[in-house]
Amino acid sequence: MFTTERLILRPYVESDLDPLLCLWNDPLVQPLVTNESITLLGPKFKETLRAKIENATFGAIIVLKETGELVGQGSITVLEPKNRDGMLGICLLPQFWNNGYGTEATKFMIDHSFKWFGLNRLSLTVFANNARAIAVYEKLGFVMEGRKRQALWMDNRWEDVLSMGILREEWESNTDRG
Ligand SMILES: CC(C)(COP(=O)(O)OP(=O)(O)OC[C@H]1O[C@@H](n2cnc3c(N)ncnc32)[C@H](O)[C@@H]1OP(=O)(O)O)[C@@H](O)C(=O)NCCC(=O)NCCS
Repeated sequence: MFTTERLILRPYVESDLDPLLCLWNDPLVQPLVTNESITLLGPKFKETLRAKIENATFGAIIVLKETGELVGQGSITVLEPKNRDGMLGICLLPQFWNNGYGTEATKFMIDHSFKWFGLNRLSLTVFANNARAIAVYEKLGFVMEGRKRQALWMDNRWEDVLSMGILREEWESNTDRG
């Protein structure tokens, strides 16, 4: 279990799967975190959620330190270990957006990846219309590395998918960021 100023990042327990299913079914959230069909996810999807979090190198349930309320989830998945590259993911319930929690949890996961997993880089993909997430990633030192044009059909239009990354050397020279 890890703590930041206002958050706890803890392992998942069985009872988290229901609130996580609600998170993934939220119409504001689902289109920002999947490139698959936007649909209703039934109880069977809890197995996918369980696998996602268990298969991650670092899979955390993010809760408020003060109340224990579930805020969302975050993960780091080390890709081919030889390349020391990790994939970062984060997803919070809408009622907690814009309070700095995303920045706080993401900063923790970046620091943790470089300090404890010895990574050389962290990667992520984000949809081009997700200005809030892009603002968080750029603030924490992620650099725009690529744009896959019209890669996503979203809300009756094509959207680009962006690749971002942060290198160990960039993290080292920006450790007071965020
Ligand atoms: C993306 C996410 C993790 C960010 O967490 P958060 O707690 O809402 O973000 P924070 O409050 O820490 O920071 C939001 C930043 O975005 C900025 N922002 C908000 N809306 C914005 C917009 N429309 N355009 C540009 N910047 C925006 C805020 O000003 C703030 O920056 P600042 O601190 O420099 O002022 C969270 O919103 C979320 O889980 N969204 C749904 C799932 C998702 O998109 N996951 C990422 C997929 S790649």
